[in-house]
Amino acid sequence: MAQEGGRLPEVLVRVGASHCITDLAGKLQFYDHWAPNYDQDVAALQYRAPSLAVDCLTQALPPLPHTALILDVACGTGLVAAELQARGFLQLHGVDGSPKMLEQARIRGLYRQLSLCTLGQEPLPSPEEAFDAVLMVGALSDGQVPCTAIPELLRVTKPGGLVCLTTRTNPSNLRYKETLEATLDRLERDGAWARLVAQPVDCWELATSTLEVVPGTCAKDGFISGIIYLYRKRGKHPPYVLCDIKRLIIRHLGASREGLGNLSESDEAISKYLNTHMHGHTANKGHPGEHNKKCYV
Ligand SMILES: C[S@@+](CC[C@H](N)C(=O)[O-])C[C@H]1O[C@@H](n2cnc3c(N)ncnc32)[C@H](O)[C@@H]1O
Repeated sequence: MAQEGGRLPEVLVRVGASHCITDLAGKLQFYDHWAPNYDQDVAALQYRAPSLAVDCLTQALPPLPHTALILDVACGTGLVAAELQARGFLQLHGVDGSPKMLEQARIRGLYRQLSLCTLGQEPLPSPEEAFDAVLMVGALSDGQVPCTAIPELLRVTKPGGLVCLTTRTNPSNLRYKETLEATLDRLERDGAWARLVAQPVDCWELATSTLEVVPGTCAKDGFISGIIYLYRKRGKHPPYVLCDIKRLIIRHLGASREGLGNLSESDEAISKYLNTHMHGHTANKGHPGEHNKKCYV
């Protein structure tokens, strides 16, 4: 930590200069040069986004199973993978637009697959509905991933799967954040996904300039603020979610396993089932043995 503190002035200059790069090619080139020092530098900046985002994702209900296939978009050197692995998630794929950042991620050895891909210019190298969860941490800002790339994240997410995103909320990123939120809200209005969480965070990372720390706002002690969003994609649910939904219907509404039969489809199918079958139903309280048996869906 003393070493990290010692390098802080140099890091503030390096990272501060990068904020002035607003074209994607220039930004990716910057990341290529930064790659060997990235982990130490962001430790000096007390960058907390990877652990906060992974906490948010893994606290969703019903919980993601440890077998979940997770895509880390703009994975960089793999700090998000390290957080996921620490919580028992091992089925990890990563993509990034910087070859040198990917090289560091490869050395870390936590991803099953790593691919070079520039979001906003090309599609993700994955089929539709491939992942139980998709994260993008630290890459939603000017000159990095454009908001127009968000639907691409949804395309590769399984119906009922989770999408976790972060952005900074310091003054120079507020215009981007506004465009981002308009995109996220439009997708929600269109029925593509539902927001589960929008979690503002005061201490995101140390500010590179006093201009980014606004007195009287939530930014304190020289930190800039940020925000984490978590969405669930609408549509057909993956087996682990459907299983939990069926279990809840059986346990709390007294439905029979047979009655639930082929309930394996969409949000709409589940709502329709509940509306048709559950009016006036009482929970199954009478036969504990029978009740327990029915809980195994
Ligand atoms: C601040 S780093 C974040 C890395 C990692 N997610 C983390 O939190 O440590 C941003 C990463 O996004 C990548 N990146 C930026 N714009 C991108 C784009 N349009 N397509 C793919 N990767 C991009 C950069 O190469 C860099 O590795």
